[in-house]
Formats: sequence, C-alpha cells, structure tokens
Amino acid sequence: MTGMNPLLEARDVIVEFPVKGWRRPPFRALKGVSLTIDPGETLGLVGESGSGKTTLGRAILGLAPVTGGDIRFAGRTVSGLGKRERRALSKDIQVVFQDPYTSLNPAMTVGDILTEPLLVAGTSRADAERRVRGLLDEVHLPADTAHRLPREFSGGQRQRLAIARALSRDPKLIVCDEPVSALDLSTQARVLDLFIEIQERTGVAYLFVTHDLSVVRHISHRVAVMYRGEIVEDGDAGVVTSAPAHPYTQRLLLAAPVPDPARQAQRRAERHRFLAEQAV
Ligand SMILES: Nc1ncnc2c1ncn2[C@@H]1O[C@H](COP(=O)(O)OP(=O)(O)OP(=O)(O)O)[C@@H](O)[C@H]1O
Ligand SMILES: [Mg+2]
Repeated sequence: MTGMNPLLEARDVIVEFPVKGWRRPPFRALKGVSLTIDPGETLGLVGESGSGKTTLGRAILGLAPVTGGDIRFAGRTVSGLGKRERRALSKDIQVVFQDPYTSLNPAMTVGDILTEPLLVAGTSRADAERRVRGLLDEVHLPADTAHRLPREFSGGQRQRLAIARALSRDPKLIVCDEPVSALDLSTQARVLDLFIEIQERTGVAYLFVTHDLSVVRHISHRVAVMYRGEIVEDGDAGVVTSAPAHPYTQRLLLAAPVPDPARQAQRRAERHRFLAEQAV
C-alpha cells in the first residue's frame, strides 16, 4: 500500500541493555531494525526465542531503551518521549500479552478492570459502564461477566478480557505479544478470528508477535522475520510463509509442525537435505 502514510515507522532502531561487569560493552538486542505498519494492517513478527521480538514490541510501547534510530507514530517521533507524553500515547498504542493471568489484576472484578482506564481518562462512570457492556459484547462475552473475577474464566476467555481492555479507548495499534501461544489449538483459532473480526470493524493495526508460522500466516497481511536482533526478511505473508527467501526463514518454515503426516515426512526429508546443504 504505497502512497499511504504508515501508522508506525521504525527506522534503524537500536536497543541496548547494560551488561554487568567492569567496562563490558552493552548487549545489543536490536541492531538497527526498520519496519512500517500501515493503518488497519497486521504485521506478523516471527523469529526464534531471543531474537528480539518482545524487545521490539516494548520499544514501540516506550518500555525498552532505544539508543539509536527512531520510532514514529502517525508521523511523530515517539521514541525517547517523557513519561507524561508517553501516557498520552497509551490511548493510541495498546498491548495484549501472552499470559492473561498476570496481566489482569486478580483482585478486581472484570467490570472494574475494564472501567478503570476509561475513568482515569475522564469518562463518566455511566458512560464507562455503557462502554464496558459494549466491549464485552464485542469480544463475545456475556454482560454478567462484569461482576466476576478473572480467575473464574478460562484462558481463552481471559484473553478476550485482555483484548476488551486493550480496545477500550479505541487504539490505532495493538502490540500483540504471543497472545494465543498459551491457548489450546481450537481456542487459538477462535481468538485469532476475534482479532481479525475486530480489525475489520475498527480498522485497528496489529504488530502480531509469535514464533508460530501457522498463526502468523492466518492473521497477517505482511510478515517480518527477525534473527538475532535484525529483520532478515519482510514481505507479503503468503510469500514469506510459503516461499521464503532467507535461509533462516526457510529453516523456521521447515521446523514448523504440519498436521498432515505425509506432508510431515516430506518436510523432514527437506529439512535434512537443507541442513546437509548448510553444513558444506
Ligand atoms: N531487560 C533486559 N535486560 C537485558 N537483556 C534483555 C532484556 N530484555 C531482553 N533482553 C535480551 O534481549 C534478547 C532478545 O530478547 P526478547 O525477549 O526480545 O526475545 P524474543 O524474540 O521475544 O524471544 P521469545 O520468543 O523467547 O519471547 C535476549 O537475548 C534477551 O536476553
Ligand atoms: Mg518474546
């Protein structure tokens, strides 16, 4: 979608973490990452454990130390903002994490969890409660959910609550960090469909972090592949997940499980051949 101004633009982003010990150089978790996300688009971000996916999401949320490059949101530089300006951005950029258990306060009712950000933003209680009824409906949970505590819900339902909370102030971008990885397969599929349905209705964009290529294929318009702090490949989701150009992505694809046993055997053979070629 050229010609459109991207919603989010990361340019040569470097994130470094200090390393303990005298005169040890910092650890560079992101080594100059560039990407864009258009309004209403889902960019899938895949890569092995430790490649820097969460760090990139946190950098976008203002939670990781960006020591080089910049991040722009709707044309404005947002990396390196102060606390107050950052808080103003929280309306537009929200987050859904992998583990809804730790991200929902266990002592608060669902109604209180969902009304809180609205009340803090100055919405009246009556309007906030009306909005929460609408949000519960949007994520397909019954209205009486509001009186219950997070522990009374299944993993999939809790993730719906986390999505409702992220949606409460009509964000333009949601950073989704492995939001379905802890769910069983059928629940995964239903929650992924909810993400898609919400996007179609609201036009929200997603940075969708996952290590699962089948998940990323299902939900993304484009896919970026991260390897050791760098984006090694970026393109159309169908192309990257079926005919990847970079050897690392090819390896990732071959490692992904496929349901069909015949296909699995074929994959295994391809993987062995591939590894043998890499070894020479
Ligand atoms: N706060 C921190 N301090 C020091 N090092 C960190 C910090 N956060 C992340 N790192 C390091 O940065 C690298 C990237 O971590 P990150 O969590 O972004 O990986 P990831 O791709 O999300 O992995 P996973 O798939 O396991 O979630 C890792 O080597 C990690 O140890
Ligand atoms: Mg992570």
